[in-house]
Amino acid sequence: YRTLDDVDPRGRRVLLRADLNVPMRDGRITDSARIERVAPTVRELADRGARVVVLSHFDRPKGRVVPGMSLAPLAEPLAAAVGHPVRFCATSVGDEAEAAVAALGDGEVLLLENTRFHPGEEDNDEELAQALAAHGDIYVNDAFSAAHRAHASTHGIARHLPSFAGRLMQAELDALTAALELPDRPVGAVIGGAKVSTKLELIGNVIRKVDTLFIGGAMANTFLAAEGVNVGKSLQEPDMHETARRIVAEAKSANCEIVLPVDAVVATEFRAGAPSHDCLIGEVPSDAMILDAGPRTIELISARLATLKTLVWNGPLGAFEIEPFDAATNAVAREVARLTQEGHLKSIAGGGDTVSALRHAGVESEMSYVSTAGGAFLEWLEGKTLPGIAVLQNIIKTTMPL
Ligand code: 3PG
Repeated sequence: YRTLDDVDPRGRRVLLRADLNVPMRDGRITDSARIERVAPTVRELADRGARVVVLSHFDRPKGRVVPGMSLAPLAEPLAAAVGHPVRFCATSVGDEAEAAVAALGDGEVLLLENTRFHPGEEDNDEELAQALAAHGDIYVNDAFSAAHRAHASTHGIARHLPSFAGRLMQAELDALTAALELPDRPVGAVIGGAKVSTKLELIGNVIRKVDTLFIGGAMANTFLAAEGVNVGKSLQEPDMHETARRIVAEAKSANCEIVLPVDAVVATEFRAGAPSHDCLIGEVPSDAMILDAGPRTIELISARLATLKTLVWNGPLGAFEIEPFDAATNAVAREVARLTQEGHLKSIAGGGDTVSALRHAGVESEMSYVSTAGGAFLEWLEGKTLPGIAVLQNIIKTTMPL
């Protein structure tokens, strides 16, 4: 794929696909990471004299105009992050949008309304792709976190314009390549979360790529139960036992060692401050449930982390949202941060819950790389081709000097 190093954007209309789908509560942004991480691309384009037209989706309005899902409130925060004024146009295609784009001068930035207000966006409709493409001379995709969607503004549009990866897209792709495609070995992965069934493809792909796989969270219970361990009342998936055994066998033949918890923090109720105690796996009381990994598991994982050069992390090790069941996730996150900061480990983390868990542990900024993506990060770990990236690799012939 080509990057902003391969084009002179001066005086050109650059259609920049960002992902401004930030979490909001009561009209306030609760996490502005996606705005801050895309801002350098916008700033670079504006500083290099481009006429920047920013496209993004927001939430899931399902092809209708939903006023509460307008991108209007994001123009100001984007402007603040970029350090340039950002104009806003209340449509993304049609006369009004065309006039707003035509009025742009070199180095100016315009944000168009939510692309998902049009049903054609999610349908990857050709007419909408063309109408959006007509706003630009070149297309820059900086929305890795939306690259798993084959939509008009992430996919169809790239068939009509010379296309480039933005700086955030580049950083995400570099980090993911360093994590799973060409990692410094030994490479490990921490995969946690509640259900094996939702991460089946992911685990199937990861065991073929890493040397060590630490499985945590409630999905570890399914693996333990599949081995005949009594996990009491723990959350687990009995219908996945066969699959779990198959995964263990496949990992063995792929030379990937699966590390499961050796002890647990158990309680009879799932609530903050519920009375809890540690016990060895195999000694879980029948009326109790596993809510976190125990201290021996933390020690075991920490010792193994010290032997690794690369670590990919997706999913918490316990019910980290509720104290005291955040202990294992916090301790392992801090150990990963320490090894990373001391230069022993390259750590790449991603997926919604994972980022909250790292933030909760206070070490989000101490990883080598934290992805802005949720679903796209998971699909990448599953080994899928992301449509938004595939189209960037199809170089469109252009008569324009780049
Ligand atoms: C995300 O938040 O993961 C992306 O913005 C994609 O959003 P979507 O899941 O609504 O397609």
